[in-house]
Amino acid sequence: MATYENILVNQQDKTAIITINREDKLNALNSQTLKELSEVFDKLSEDATVRGIVLTGKGEKAFVAGADIKEFLSLNSAEASELSRSGQQNVMNKIQHFPKPIIAAINGFALGGGLELALACHIRVAVESAKMGLPEVSLGIIPGYGGTQRLPQLVGKSKALEMILTGDMVDAQDAYQWGLVNHVVATQSELLAKCIALLERTYTRSFTAITAAIDAVNVGIVDVDKGFEREIELFGKCFGSADMKEGVAAFLEKRKPNF
Ligand code: COA
Repeated sequence: MATYENILVNQQDKTAIITINREDKLNALNSQTLKELSEVFDKLSEDATVRGIVLTGKGEKAFVAGADIKEFLSLNSAEASELSRSGQQNVMNKIQHFPKPIIAAINGFALGGGLELALACHIRVAVESAKMGLPEVSLGIIPGYGGTQRLPQLVGKSKALEMILTGDMVDAQDAYQWGLVNHVVATQSELLAKCIALLERTYTRSFTAITAAIDAVNVGIVDVDKGFEREIELFGKCFGSADMKEGVAAFLEKRKPNF
């Protein structure tokens, strides 16, 4: 795999593990890190040996403590809008629409752009000690990498507005109860194992179907009528696939499918 300045990429069987590697800056997302994330997702999308991805932060303190605040200083209004647009298009939306499952392994602070990065992933697993929040209003700004949209989708408008308007952090148990994270693990050492175990469940399923399911869910999140239509279309498309023939034959022959 290519080497990068601010991220580490390892592969364990079918799982690629991307680690944001700026531990001394709490893995804050500067422009170089965003560029590298954009590139690595393009590469992994094409890599047929990779079936799922874990995204995490280096060390035990932070997943990602936000966009790099130092880079904000020089930006005017138009440049700030462009930063938001390019971050959303090149990283956050790319993750949301990625054709293979991506799990955020939240190993510590996930704040601002860091929480937004986790929100864009398909599934989130947090360590018990993790803290999550959108503190942007304390900087005089609002979330700019999709937080005002994706957080309400996950936790509802009421809890989302509470988090966004107070800027306060929530702990992993509250996040779990609110539906912000899918699972909480007690220790850092369990975090990666839990994410990989979830991904490995998906590897036993049809890849064609998984990609179609991600697509249909994503369309419906934006527009529910279009989502139903997309589901109908993709449901039909699955019926032409080799995976569907194998999956149904395996069920009828009382054996495991070989996708
Ligand atoms: N952007 C740039 N640098 C950041 C950063 C960010 N979002 N978050 C942390 N850092 C840097 C700090 O500047 C510090 O660097 P330094 O050693 O060169 O001074 C280093 O990471 C360690 O952070 P520090 O604040 O000293 O750690 P702490 O344990 O006292 O506090 C936090 C941890 C997470 C509470 C605190 O770092 C924080 O509030 N970060 C900003 C969170 C935020 O507002 N994010 C939203 C951005 S839109």
